[in-house]
Amino acid sequence: MPKFVIQGGKTLKGRVAVGGAKNHALKLLAASILFDSPVELTNVPQIEDVFRMSELLEKLGAKVKKASNHTLTVDPRGIKKSELDREITKRFRASVVAIGPLLGRFGKAALAHPGGCVIGERPIDIFIEGLTALGATFKEKDETYFFEAKKLTGADFTFRVPSVTATETLMLAAVAADGKTVLRNAASEPEIPALAEFLNNAGAKIAGAGTATIEITGLGRDAKLMASAPFEVIPDRIEAGSLAILGALMASELTIEKCNPEHLGSLLEHLKTAGASVKTGPDWLRVKRTKKINPVNIKTREYPGFPTDLQAPFCILLTQANGRSEIFETIFDNRLEYLKDIERMGADITFCDPHRAIIAGPAALRGRVMESPDLRAGLAFIIAALVAEGESEIHNVYQIDRGYETIEDKLARLGAKIKRIRE
Ligand code: EPZ
Repeated sequence: MPKFVIQGGKTLKGRVAVGGAKNHALKLLAASILFDSPVELTNVPQIEDVFRMSELLEKLGAKVKKASNHTLTVDPRGIKKSELDREITKRFRASVVAIGPLLGRFGKAALAHPGGCVIGERPIDIFIEGLTALGATFKEKDETYFFEAKKLTGADFTFRVPSVTATETLMLAAVAADGKTVLRNAASEPEIPALAEFLNNAGAKIAGAGTATIEITGLGRDAKLMASAPFEVIPDRIEAGSLAILGALMASELTIEKCNPEHLGSLLEHLKTAGASVKTGPDWLRVKRTKKINPVNIKTREYPGFPTDLQAPFCILLTQANGRSEIFETIFDNRLEYLKDIERMGADITFCDPHRAIIAGPAALRGRVMESPDLRAGLAFIIAALVAEGESEIHNVYQIDRGYETIEDKLARLGAKIKRIRE
């Protein structure tokens, strides 16, 4: 199993380009099930979750081909099956999104409970509520969920909680429903309007994606989406944001290219409050560290609030702030566990309850051997190791490779001492 070996304490400098967004690419791949033509996607990150989604589609009968380094073509016309491969589904949460288009087009979909990051309870009750509102029946047998619908019918549905993947799944199902669907209290993360744009380019009729109310005029079960041109995955805002946090900690100057700073408003305001110098252009941002980092309270929120996926990297910054910062993780139930490892590195952390912690800084971090618990906390461990004195080892690198393409090369080019060791 590979591991990262990192020597901390090096000042970073330079330019780094951000890859395509994992959480956009995965949904575009799932959406390809609705198409009647091959789909070409560009700026697709070469990461483990994309490989898993490609395998999932292939198991259904699609053909997935890597046309060049970051271009994938998917030909969904051979899809015959409607049950998702059990083992693959258990490896990443986004697999669940495929049930929307499968149900819409084939009248049935089945899956095991989707896996992914261990960050608290991740039920699928909202998916069940939404799909049954569109006319599907649901049953659970032998640890498998079965959805069926002779046809889906448009409905007016309000999310109890604005779930990102449930919004995407219902949007995809509604494209193949009869009549109009209105999704209220929908999630509005940037990957959602970018998914709608992909579908609309191919003939779907979706309005309001990116706001809390999405209206979909269904094309019916025989919806035939046709891709007219290659479609580009949007930049990964979580990769960009994590690099910006790293810049605020360690860089004399770090320019992050091929990103969209508009998607990072809340983070950038928090970084400025922390004292970092932040400049932005249309597709780049530049961050410089400050000598004295100010403490900042963070409360994670749905977009455009502070993203839960940046909570872990930001907490590493807060270990170096001069004073006390309060962390309030409101989205997931178990997303502060990784802080126990950061505490063992020397950080001063008070755990208040599963959602809240207080970080008192600045604390000198010491290198350690750690196990990456999930994808975003894994990158936070890398950042902590780069800040720490001495050497750290990070194991369970698969979790990091799920979402970041050769992150060690990007960081090494900025001056970081990081190596992937294959044991
Ligand atoms: C998406 O997860 C992202 N994953 C997550 O990124 C991200 O952290 C999260 O949105 C929040 O932004 C993908 O897009 C693949 P939710 P998702 O449903 O859709 C509760 C990463 O590292 N809920 O919006 O699974 C849920 O428990 C990952 O890339 C239900 O109660 O998150 C949570 O408290 C980690 N019932 C809240 O909703 C349901 O049926 C919001 O979660 C569904 C969700």
